Amino acid sequence: MHISLLSHAMEWIAFNLAGFCNICLACDDHLANDEPDIEMNAPAKTEEFASAIPAGVYAETVLSVTHYTDRLFRFTMTRPDGFRFRSGEFAMIGLMVDGKPIFRAYSIASPAWAEELEFFSIKVPDGPLTSHLQLIKPGDQVLMRKKPTGTLVLDALTPGKRLYMFSTGTGIAPFASLIRDPETYEKFDEVILTHTTREISELKYGFDLVEEIRNDELLQEVVGDKLRHYATVTREDFEYRGRITDLISSGKLFTDLGIPPIDPALDRGMICGSSAMLKDTKELLEKAGLEEGANSKPAEFVIERAFVG
Ligand code: A2P
Repeated sequence: MHISLLSHAMEWIAFNLAGFCNICLACDDHLANDEPDIEMNAPAKTEEFASAIPAGVYAETVLSVTHYTDRLFRFTMTRPDGFRFRSGEFAMIGLMVDGKPIFRAYSIASPAWAEELEFFSIKVPDGPLTSHLQLIKPGDQVLMRKKPTGTLVLDALTPGKRLYMFSTGTGIAPFASLIRDPETYEKFDEVILTHTTREISELKYGFDLVEEIRNDELLQEVVGDKLRHYATVTREDFEYRGRITDLISSGKLFTDLGIPPIDPALDRGMICGSSAMLKDTKELLEKAGLEEGANSKPAEFVIERAFVG
């Protein structure tokens, strides 16, 4: 079934304007992965599981799981009726482990208008949550706390011309949401998604995502040539190599893209990655004259500190 991303986006905008809750139809979730997505209809929750769900928490049904590498996987699950979020926000995702709920912060990778919720996760062999989460299958139940939040939202940035989204590893997830949101392209003339991973295989989620956008005729009409994807790896040979911080410092990022260096009058930034990457990238943006913003005080760049992965 192919229902265009744009028609959902339009529904979402209409929904926002109308101000009532009306979740859109299923999106075209095609991804050209090595391992096929497994999809099935949502089964009823079992009574046993339902009785164990903590109060005030959603229990949603896993719809598809895609394993990219032995360190990375993506899954989609049902979106609860009435669950609203802004593209770029995160939610607390969890599982019951030995009778107790374990939650971690996960950026929602699907855009605000999509019917399903998508997440992109690491697998940590001994991780309290991910060692279990990586084993989920369609039909399983995943917990989600009711309130999404986060700073990687368009509202936390002052108006600008060019938006940089700097990500490493699974830090691409909030940007997967934002690059599929038409509002991003209403607010910016150019959107540069940088994604850096250790190995080429870890870039696949990002390449699939951009291809999905390019192949969606109506969304592509909104995106046009505004979206640029700059993917680099640090531990293998590849066309573009190196940490994004080094590529900013040396100016190679700008030479490769054929654009001028970062200018606080025109450029805005969002950063999502490991804490070391956040710190180093933040320093570079500040050096370029950009100031950190927040929901309560929009400015020139924002960071997601709650990011896990
Ligand atoms: P490197 O291979 O040089 O460590 P991880 O999988 O550990 O989260 O790393 C994802 C990517 O982020 C890797 O390419 C890694 O480069 C890069 N990285 C790690 N630390 C930093 C940092 N402080 N600044 C920029 N990039 C970083």
